[in-house]
Amino acid sequence: MRQHLWRTILLALIFTLLLTGCGDPSLSALNPQGPVADTQLSLIKLSIFIMLLVITVVTLIFIYVLIRFRQRPGDDRIPEQVEGSAVLETIWTAIPIVLLIILAVPTVMTTFSLAEPATDVETSAEAAEDEEAVEASEEGPLRVKVTAYQFWWQFEYPDHGIVTAQDLYIPTGEKVYFELTAEDVIHSFWVPALGGKMDTNPGLVNEMFLEADKPGVYQGKCAELCGSSHALMDFKVVALEPEAFDQWLASMSEYDGEKAETETAEQGREVFADNCISCHAVDGETPSLGPNLAGIADRETIAGYLPNDAQTMEDWIRHTDELKEGVNMPSFPDLSGEDMDALIEYLQGLTISE
Ligand code: CUA
Repeated sequence: MRQHLWRTILLALIFTLLLTGCGDPSLSALNPQGPVADTQLSLIKLSIFIMLLVITVVTLIFIYVLIRFRQRPGDDRIPEQVEGSAVLETIWTAIPIVLLIILAVPTVMTTFSLAEPATDVETSAEAAEDEEAVEASEEGPLRVKVTAYQFWWQFEYPDHGIVTAQDLYIPTGEKVYFELTAEDVIHSFWVPALGGKMDTNPGLVNEMFLEADKPGVYQGKCAELCGSSHALMDFKVVALEPEAFDQWLASMSEYDGEKAETETAEQGREVFADNCISCHAVDGETPSLGPNLAGIADRETIAGYLPNDAQTMEDWIRHTDELKEGVNMPSFPDLSGEDMDALIEYLQGLTISE
Protein backbone atom coordinates (compact mmCIF):
# COMPACT_ATOMS: atom_id res chain seq x y z
CA MET A 1 0.00 0.00 0.00
CA ARG A 2 2.75 2.42 1.04
CA GLN A 3 4.80 1.46 -2.04
CA HIS A 4 1.79 2.25 -4.18
CA LEU A 5 1.56 5.70 -2.64
CA TRP A 6 5.23 6.50 -3.29
CA ARG A 7 4.94 5.35 -6.87
CA THR A 8 1.98 7.67 -7.39
CA ILE A 9 3.83 10.61 -5.85
CA LEU A 10 6.90 9.90 -8.00
CA LEU A 11 4.79 9.76 -11.17
CA ALA A 12 3.07 13.01 -10.24
CA LEU A 13 6.47 14.67 -9.77
CA ILE A 14 7.75 13.41 -13.13
CA PHE A 15 4.63 14.66 -14.92
CA THR A 16 4.89 18.00 -13.16
CA LEU A 17 8.45 18.37 -14.42
CA LEU A 18 7.54 17.26 -17.94
CA LEU A 19 4.49 19.47 -18.22
CA THR A 20 6.29 22.56 -17.00
CA GLY A 21 9.12 21.95 -19.46
CA CYS A 22 7.83 24.40 -22.08
CA GLY A 23 10.11 27.20 -20.99
CA ASP A 24 10.23 29.47 -24.08
CA PRO A 25 8.74 32.73 -22.74
CA SER A 26 8.06 34.00 -26.25
CA LEU A 27 5.77 31.02 -26.74
CA SER A 28 3.60 31.60 -23.71
CA ALA A 29 0.14 33.06 -23.35
CA LEU A 30 1.19 33.97 -19.79
CA ASN A 31 3.63 36.60 -21.06
CA PRO A 32 1.34 38.95 -23.06
CA GLN A 33 2.93 41.57 -25.32
CA GLY A 34 -0.19 43.33 -26.56
CA PRO A 35 -3.71 44.36 -25.58
CA VAL A 36 -5.46 41.32 -27.12
CA ALA A 37 -3.22 38.90 -25.22
CA ASP A 38 -3.62 41.04 -22.08
CA THR A 39 -7.41 40.84 -22.23
CA GLN A 40 -7.32 37.11 -22.81
CA LEU A 41 -4.92 36.58 -19.92
CA SER A 42 -7.32 38.46 -17.63
CA LEU A 43 -10.02 35.98 -18.61
CA ILE A 44 -7.69 33.07 -17.96
CA LYS A 45 -6.87 34.51 -14.52
CA LEU A 46 -10.54 35.04 -13.70
CA SER A 47 -11.46 31.46 -14.55
CA ILE A 48 -8.46 30.06 -12.69
CA PHE A 49 -9.38 32.17 -9.65
CA ILE A 50 -12.95 30.86 -9.67
CA MET A 51 -11.77 27.27 -10.06
CA LEU A 52 -9.22 27.65 -7.26
CA LEU A 53 -11.91 29.11 -5.03
CA VAL A 54 -14.20 26.12 -5.70
CA ILE A 55 -11.43 23.57 -5.15
CA THR A 56 -10.27 25.26 -1.94
CA VAL A 57 -13.73 25.56 -0.39
CA VAL A 58 -14.72 22.00 -1.36
CA THR A 59 -11.43 20.54 -0.11
CA LEU A 60 -11.66 22.38 3.23
CA ILE A 61 -15.24 21.23 3.79
CA PHE A 62 -14.25 17.69 2.80
CA ILE A 63 -11.31 17.57 5.21
CA TYR A 64 -13.40 19.09 7.99
CA VAL A 65 -16.16 16.51 7.49
CA LEU A 66 -13.66 13.63 7.37
CA ILE A 67 -12.15 14.62 10.71
CA ARG A 68 -15.19 15.96 12.53
CA PHE A 69 -17.53 13.09 11.67
CA ARG A 70 -15.17 10.14 11.58
CA GLN A 71 -16.15 7.00 13.50
CA ARG A 72 -14.49 6.99 16.89
CA PRO A 73 -13.55 3.73 18.69
CA GLY A 74 -16.39 2.45 20.88
CA ASP A 75 -18.92 4.80 19.32
CA ASP A 76 -21.49 2.72 17.42
CA ARG A 77 -24.18 5.36 17.05
CA ILE A 78 -25.75 5.80 13.61
CA PRO A 79 -25.70 9.51 12.63
CA GLU A 80 -28.95 11.30 11.93
CA GLN A 81 -30.19 10.26 8.46
CA VAL A 82 -31.19 13.21 6.26
CA GLU A 83 -33.21 12.81 3.09
CA GLY A 84 -33.96 15.86 0.97
CA SER A 85 -33.23 19.37 2.19
CA ALA A 86 -34.70 22.33 0.36
CA VAL A 87 -32.21 24.72 1.95
CA LEU A 88 -29.08 22.69 1.13
CA GLU A 89 -30.22 21.91 -2.41
CA THR A 90 -30.99 25.56 -3.10
CA ILE A 91 -27.56 26.57 -1.81
CA TRP A 92 -25.61 24.11 -3.92
CA THR A 93 -27.61 24.91 -7.02
CA ALA A 94 -27.41 28.68 -6.58
CA ILE A 95 -23.66 28.93 -5.92
CA PRO A 96 -22.54 27.27 -9.21
CA ILE A 97 -25.08 29.37 -11.15
CA VAL A 98 -23.69 32.58 -9.66
CA LEU A 99 -20.12 31.44 -10.37
CA LEU A 100 -21.01 30.59 -13.97
CA ILE A 101 -22.60 34.00 -14.47
CA ILE A 102 -19.47 35.71 -13.07
CA LEU A 103 -17.43 33.68 -15.56
CA ALA A 104 -19.81 33.94 -18.52
CA VAL A 105 -20.48 37.68 -18.61
CA PRO A 106 -16.88 38.87 -19.13
CA THR A 107 -16.10 35.87 -21.37
CA VAL A 108 -18.98 36.59 -23.76
CA MET A 109 -18.33 40.34 -23.73
CA THR A 110 -14.62 39.89 -24.42
CA THR A 111 -15.21 37.30 -27.12
CA PHE A 112 -17.55 39.66 -28.96
CA SER A 113 -15.29 42.68 -28.52
CA LEU A 114 -12.34 40.76 -29.97
CA ALA A 115 -14.40 39.60 -32.96
CA GLU A 116 -16.44 42.72 -33.65
CA PRO A 117 -14.13 45.21 -35.37
CA ALA A 118 -13.47 43.02 -38.42
CA THR A 119 -16.75 44.13 -40.05
CA ASP A 120 -16.30 47.75 -38.93
CA VAL A 121 -12.93 47.76 -40.59
CA GLU A 122 -14.29 46.30 -43.82
CA THR A 123 -16.75 49.21 -44.11
CA SER A 124 -14.23 51.88 -43.18
CA ALA A 125 -11.77 50.48 -45.71
CA GLU A 126 -14.46 50.47 -48.39
CA ALA A 127 -15.49 54.00 -47.48
CA ALA A 128 -11.91 55.14 -47.71
CA GLU A 129 -11.53 53.51 -51.12
CA ASP A 130 -14.42 55.57 -52.48
CA GLU A 131 -12.60 58.78 -51.73
CA GLU A 132 -9.13 58.24 -53.03
CA ALA A 133 -7.44 54.97 -53.81
CA VAL A 134 -4.02 56.13 -52.70
CA GLU A 135 -5.24 57.41 -49.37
CA ALA A 136 -7.18 54.24 -48.74
CA SER A 137 -4.02 52.20 -48.52
CA GLU A 138 -2.37 54.88 -46.40
CA GLU A 139 -5.19 55.49 -43.94
CA GLY A 140 -7.17 52.26 -43.71
CA PRO A 141 -6.18 49.79 -41.03
CA LEU A 142 -3.44 47.34 -41.93
CA ARG A 143 -4.84 44.11 -43.33
CA VAL A 144 -2.83 40.94 -43.80
CA LYS A 145 -4.11 37.89 -45.61
CA VAL A 146 -2.58 34.78 -44.07
CA THR A 147 -2.53 31.57 -46.09
CA ALA A 148 -1.32 28.39 -44.41
CA TYR A 149 0.36 25.66 -46.45
CA GLN A 150 1.91 22.35 -45.42
CA PHE A 151 4.17 23.49 -43.68
CA TRP A 152 4.70 27.22 -44.08
CA TRP A 153 2.93 30.56 -43.96
CA GLN A 154 2.27 33.15 -46.66
CA PHE A 155 1.56 36.77 -45.69
CA GLU A 156 -0.09 39.10 -48.20
CA TYR A 157 -0.60 42.83 -47.70
CA PRO A 158 -3.44 43.36 -50.19
CA ASP A 159 -3.50 47.17 -49.81
CA HIS A 160 0.20 47.38 -50.58
CA GLY A 161 0.67 44.68 -53.20
CA ILE A 162 3.20 42.84 -51.05
CA VAL A 163 3.63 39.10 -50.56
CA THR A 164 6.08 37.54 -48.16
CA ALA A 165 6.42 34.35 -46.15
CA GLN A 166 7.47 33.00 -42.77
CA ASP A 167 8.35 36.38 -41.21
CA LEU A 168 5.24 38.47 -40.63
CA TYR A 169 6.04 42.19 -40.35
CA ILE A 170 3.65 44.36 -38.36
CA PRO A 171 3.79 47.86 -36.87
CA THR A 172 3.58 48.34 -33.09
CA GLY A 173 0.75 50.14 -31.33
CA GLU A 174 -1.84 49.48 -34.01
CA LYS A 175 -4.45 46.80 -34.60
CA VAL A 176 -3.54 44.52 -37.49
CA TYR A 177 -6.47 42.71 -39.09
CA PHE A 178 -5.92 39.20 -40.35
CA GLU A 179 -7.88 37.27 -42.94
CA LEU A 180 -6.95 33.66 -42.33
CA THR A 181 -7.27 30.84 -44.79
CA ALA A 182 -5.45 27.67 -45.85
CA GLU A 183 -4.52 26.08 -49.12
CA ASP A 184 -4.50 22.35 -48.29
CA VAL A 185 -5.64 21.19 -44.84
CA ILE A 186 -6.77 22.90 -41.63
CA HIS A 187 -4.01 24.73 -39.79
CA SER A 188 -4.19 27.17 -36.90
CA PHE A 189 -2.55 30.59 -36.67
CA TRP A 190 -1.14 31.26 -33.22
CA VAL A 191 1.14 33.94 -31.79
CA PRO A 192 0.87 33.24 -28.05
CA ALA A 193 2.48 36.50 -26.91
CA LEU A 194 0.00 38.57 -28.96
CA GLY A 195 -3.26 36.63 -28.64
CA GLY A 196 -5.26 33.46 -28.98
CA LYS A 197 -5.22 31.07 -31.89
CA MET A 198 -7.57 30.95 -34.87
CA ASP A 199 -8.11 28.11 -37.35
CA THR A 200 -7.19 28.57 -41.00
CA ASN A 201 -9.60 26.53 -43.13
CA PRO A 202 -9.36 25.80 -46.87
CA GLY A 203 -12.07 27.70 -48.73
CA LEU A 204 -13.06 29.82 -45.72
CA VAL A 205 -11.82 33.11 -44.32
CA ASN A 206 -11.62 33.61 -40.56
CA GLU A 207 -10.94 37.07 -39.22
CA MET A 208 -9.13 38.31 -36.14
CA PHE A 209 -6.92 41.17 -35.07
CA LEU A 210 -3.75 41.36 -33.01
CA GLU A 211 -1.67 44.20 -31.67
CA ALA A 212 1.90 44.37 -30.39
CA ASP A 213 2.88 46.96 -27.78
CA LYS A 214 6.62 46.81 -28.24
CA PRO A 215 9.01 46.13 -31.11
CA GLY A 216 10.41 42.63 -31.07
CA VAL A 217 10.32 39.21 -32.63
CA TYR A 218 7.49 37.00 -31.46
CA GLN A 219 7.27 33.28 -32.02
CA GLY A 220 4.33 31.96 -34.04
CA LYS A 221 3.14 28.38 -34.34
CA CYS A 222 0.70 26.22 -36.20
CA ALA A 223 -1.63 24.94 -33.50
CA GLU A 224 -3.61 22.34 -35.42
CA LEU A 225 -2.24 18.88 -36.21
CA CYS A 226 -1.80 19.18 -39.97
CA GLY A 227 0.66 16.47 -41.02
CA SER A 228 4.02 14.97 -40.23
CA SER A 229 5.86 18.29 -39.88
CA HIS A 230 3.11 20.10 -37.99
CA ALA A 231 5.47 20.65 -35.06
CA LEU A 232 7.95 22.45 -37.34
CA MET A 233 5.40 24.80 -38.88
CA ASP A 234 6.76 27.84 -37.08
CA PHE A 235 6.83 31.47 -38.11
CA LYS A 236 7.99 34.77 -36.66
CA VAL A 237 6.19 38.03 -36.08
CA VAL A 238 8.55 40.95 -36.48
CA ALA A 239 7.00 43.99 -34.81
CA LEU A 240 8.60 47.29 -35.84
CA GLU A 241 8.04 50.89 -34.74
CA PRO A 242 5.56 52.48 -37.20
CA GLU A 243 8.31 54.45 -38.95
CA ALA A 244 10.53 51.41 -39.43
CA PHE A 245 7.50 49.45 -40.60
CA ASP A 246 6.61 52.08 -43.23
CA GLN A 247 10.20 51.90 -44.37
CA TRP A 248 9.93 48.12 -44.70
CA LEU A 249 6.71 48.52 -46.71
CA ALA A 250 8.41 51.01 -49.01
CA SER A 251 11.49 48.79 -49.49
CA MET A 252 9.30 45.78 -50.22
CA SER A 253 7.26 47.74 -52.77
CA GLU A 254 10.38 48.90 -54.58
CA TYR A 255 12.07 45.52 -54.45
CA ASP A 256 12.47 43.96 -57.90
CA GLY A 257 13.92 40.63 -56.86
CA GLU A 258 16.49 40.50 -59.62
CA LYS A 259 19.36 41.27 -57.31
CA ALA A 260 22.66 39.61 -58.10
CA GLU A 261 25.52 41.86 -57.16
CA THR A 262 28.50 39.60 -57.76
CA GLU A 263 29.42 37.33 -60.62
CA THR A 264 28.90 34.26 -58.43
CA ALA A 265 25.51 35.55 -57.38
CA GLU A 266 24.63 36.09 -61.04
CA GLN A 267 25.56 32.44 -61.69
CA GLY A 268 23.43 31.53 -58.69
CA ARG A 269 20.52 33.41 -60.18
CA GLU A 270 20.77 31.15 -63.22
CA VAL A 271 20.83 28.04 -61.03
CA PHE A 272 17.77 29.43 -59.31
CA ALA A 273 16.05 30.08 -62.64
CA ASP A 274 16.73 26.49 -63.73
CA ASN A 275 15.65 24.76 -60.52
CA CYS A 276 13.66 26.90 -58.15
CA ILE A 277 11.69 29.63 -59.86
CA SER A 278 8.72 27.46 -60.84
CA CYS A 279 7.84 27.27 -57.12
CA HIS A 280 9.50 30.31 -55.56
CA ALA A 281 8.81 33.88 -56.63
CA VAL A 282 11.45 36.39 -55.49
CA ASP A 283 9.76 39.69 -56.29
CA GLY A 284 7.91 40.27 -53.02
CA GLU A 285 4.59 40.69 -54.79
CA THR A 286 3.56 37.33 -56.30
CA PRO A 287 2.05 34.43 -54.38
CA SER A 288 3.83 31.24 -55.44
CA LEU A 289 3.63 27.49 -54.82
CA GLY A 290 6.39 27.77 -52.24
CA PRO A 291 7.36 30.71 -50.06
CA ASN A 292 8.12 33.97 -51.89
CA LEU A 293 11.83 34.38 -51.22
CA ALA A 294 12.10 38.18 -51.41
CA GLY A 295 14.13 39.11 -48.36
CA ILE A 296 15.00 35.53 -47.43
CA ALA A 297 18.42 36.78 -46.32
CA ASP A 298 16.67 38.88 -43.64
CA ARG A 299 14.53 36.05 -42.32
CA GLU A 300 14.99 34.68 -38.86
CA THR A 301 14.97 31.06 -39.96
CA ILE A 302 15.09 28.66 -42.87
CA ALA A 303 12.11 26.31 -43.25
CA GLY A 304 10.54 28.00 -40.23
CA TYR A 305 12.84 26.57 -37.59
CA LEU A 306 16.46 26.20 -38.79
CA PRO A 307 19.16 28.86 -38.30
CA ASN A 308 19.52 31.05 -41.39
CA ASP A 309 23.13 30.48 -42.42
CA ALA A 310 24.93 29.20 -45.52
CA GLN A 311 25.67 25.68 -44.25
CA THR A 312 22.11 25.10 -43.04
CA MET A 313 20.73 26.45 -46.28
CA GLU A 314 22.82 23.96 -48.24
CA ASP A 315 21.73 21.09 -45.97
CA TRP A 316 18.13 22.18 -46.39
CA ILE A 317 18.25 22.36 -50.19
CA ARG A 318 20.01 19.00 -50.46
CA HIS A 319 17.82 17.11 -47.96
CA THR A 320 14.50 18.86 -47.46
CA ASP A 321 12.57 15.76 -46.45
CA GLU A 322 15.15 14.74 -43.85
CA LEU A 323 14.85 18.11 -42.15
CA LYS A 324 11.11 18.54 -42.56
CA GLU A 325 9.30 15.29 -43.17
CA GLY A 326 6.44 15.42 -45.64
CA VAL A 327 7.50 18.78 -47.08
CA ASN A 328 6.42 19.48 -50.67
CA MET A 329 9.76 20.95 -51.71
CA PRO A 330 11.90 18.32 -53.47
CA SER A 331 15.50 17.70 -52.38
CA PHE A 332 18.38 18.65 -54.66
CA PRO A 333 21.10 16.20 -53.58
CA ASP A 334 22.87 16.28 -56.95
CA LEU A 335 23.53 19.99 -57.39
CA SER A 336 27.27 20.46 -57.94
CA GLY A 337 29.23 22.16 -55.19
CA GLU A 338 29.90 25.13 -57.46
CA ASP A 339 26.23 25.56 -58.36
CA MET A 340 25.24 25.22 -54.73
CA ASP A 341 27.72 27.84 -53.56
CA ALA A 342 26.55 30.22 -56.27
CA LEU A 343 22.89 29.59 -55.44
CA ILE A 344 23.48 30.29 -51.77
CA GLU A 345 25.41 33.47 -52.52
CA TYR A 346 22.48 34.60 -54.66
CA LEU A 347 19.91 33.72 -51.93
CA GLN A 348 21.97 35.46 -49.27
CA GLY A 349 21.90 38.59 -51.41
CA LEU A 350 18.10 38.62 -51.43
CA THR A 351 17.80 41.21 -48.72
CA ILE A 352 15.29 43.98 -48.20
CA SER A 353 17.18 45.94 -45.58
CA GLU A 354 20.11 47.63 -47.26
CU1 CUA B 1 -0.05 23.46 -39.91
CU2 CUA B 1 0.00 22.23 -37.93
